[in-house]
Amino acid sequence: MCGIVGYIGPADAKHILLDGLRKLEYRGYDSAGLAIQQAGELAIRKRQGKIDRLAGELDLAPVEGMVGIGHTRWATHGAPSDDNAHPHVDCAGRMAVVHNGIIENYLALRESLEGRGHQFRSETDTEVFAHLIESHYAGDLYAAVVAALREVVGSYALVVMSLDAPDTLIAARQHSPLILGHGEQEQFIASDVPAVLAYTRKVTYLQNGEVAVLNRDGVRITRLDGTEVSRDISIVAWDAAAAEKGGYKHFMLKEINEQPTALEETLRGRISEDGAQITLPGLKLSPAQLSAISRVLIIACGTAYHAGLVGKYAIEQLARLPVEIDVASELRYRDPIIDEGTLAIVISQSGETADTQAGLHEARDKGAHVLAVTNVVGSSVDRDADSVLYTYAGPEIAVASTKAYTTQLMVMYLTALYLAQERGTMPDEARIQLIDAVRRIPSQTQTILEGQEAIHSLADRFDEIHSSLFLGRGVNFPTALEGALKLKEISYIHAEGYAAGEMKHGPIALITPQCPTVAVAVPGGVYDKMLSNIKEVKARAGHVIAVGAEGDGELHKYADDVIRIPRTVELFTPVLAAVPLQLLAYYCADNLGMDIDQPRNLAKSVTVE
Ligand code: F6R
Repeated sequence: MCGIVGYIGPADAKHILLDGLRKLEYRGYDSAGLAIQQAGELAIRKRQGKIDRLAGELDLAPVEGMVGIGHTRWATHGAPSDDNAHPHVDCAGRMAVVHNGIIENYLALRESLEGRGHQFRSETDTEVFAHLIESHYAGDLYAAVVAALREVVGSYALVVMSLDAPDTLIAARQHSPLILGHGEQEQFIASDVPAVLAYTRKVTYLQNGEVAVLNRDGVRITRLDGTEVSRDISIVAWDAAAAEKGGYKHFMLKEINEQPTALEETLRGRISEDGAQITLPGLKLSPAQLSAISRVLIIACGTAYHAGLVGKYAIEQLARLPVEIDVASELRYRDPIIDEGTLAIVISQSGETADTQAGLHEARDKGAHVLAVTNVVGSSVDRDADSVLYTYAGPEIAVASTKAYTTQLMVMYLTALYLAQERGTMPDEARIQLIDAVRRIPSQTQTILEGQEAIHSLADRFDEIHSSLFLGRGVNFPTALEGALKLKEISYIHAEGYAAGEMKHGPIALITPQCPTVAVAVPGGVYDKMLSNIKEVKARAGHVIAVGAEGDGELHKYADDVIRIPRTVELFTPVLAAVPLQLLAYYCADNLGMDIDQPRNLAKSVTVE
């Protein structure tokens, strides 16, 4: 998730681009840059770091012009650096591009372009666009962009500017957002509305597969096959603060609603076209190393630890490897048994959590191969690990982790399936069925989000309560822990996550009508056991909110309220079950008027022990 801005008109482009980038900084902030047409040349300024560093560079080396493009980056390919910052230019330095998204076939395209003499200056997938368009250019920029887009597989929001078409910007969209803003004799382009709101409220939302050609006096939109598209202009009614949150009241709610896209991005390029194989180039283990692994050790904190707990179930079940898991703050003080046969998986959204980093170093120093699962390219755990698998969730701003968690779960499933595939621990047919189920998760998540109003109403029940229990078993024991963590950290209502079978060893004493129980009871090996636990709660006059599967005709006979999630295989239910629990926590906290995005005493990244 990066931020893109483009401008063509009569005003000072630098000012408009910088202003727009600042409004989009929530989309990414590891580097920023812009390209402006200045006296027949492309003036490029780019810097690693926040937008203020770019502004400082522009003070030292000013640029002036009325056509330009800008970018604030959230790295996906290539660490944050001046060279990897956008815009990227072609060999001749006559064309510049900015891009948001992931190009899956960029390595093959890059090799082919290098074979034809193109010189690359960065490690990004984006630079491929600049050279590909250059290779197709024969006097018509629009035709060259379309020809390049036809060769690219992946997601993109792209803006192209060229000295050979000085009065034009060309933009294209496939699975990454782009809006066009319309002013008087000026046009804007941006990843999101806040970047243009100071200048215009008239916008057009570009759709997948569309290309826009912007001139000062208007915009022409076509599909890739050249068919003209006509689209009504929308008038934005939000104020600037709401626009930054995509119209949502809080970043947390926005991020909950971004999960279908985040999960889709995390899957992108990791499943073969025929749906039979998992490909994880980030996991740098040779076949010999893969078969030499004798155990897995997972290290993480908080929500990431809960993702690791689900990972333990998945890896043990599918890849038949023993998995041990530790909260990072405990691992570092217990002299753990780690050797060359250990695959250590370190999970961290930020990649900067101090305890998790210490765990990583301990595992690495003892000879383990360290695989980092992180959302931040170039973070400490990314740099220090042997292998890295990214969760492509985009920046997570709310302190309470939501989209990072579900994408971590997705990476755990992919890792388990990959280990099973490479170690031959499950029949191909069974693996293919699971891959098929994994691919449905993003759209199933969308289905849950479409029913969020019902969860909103349920949350009203929590207005008067001070304590709650979250119960789950098997692979959904971590779901209970995560549901309880979400509720307590943003609503300050005490919530205890428990393995349902353990309830009678203590927490059952808490049950009263004022202490509701949230029970995850989805079809699978422990379903009947969960029903028994729900009955135990009901027998003590407890109120039960169950999370169950669509079409389950039993659950409502026992629970007071039932939240339905789409059916999937039991192992994958934690991703789907997490979403209503996030929404429940969110609406409870909102009803209570809490500071949801920045709960008291908490920090987004815990960089001290
Ligand atoms: C809870 C939450 C925290 C983090 C934990 C680890 O909603 O966000 O529990 O999961 O602080 O952070 P990372 O993943 O950045 O290492």
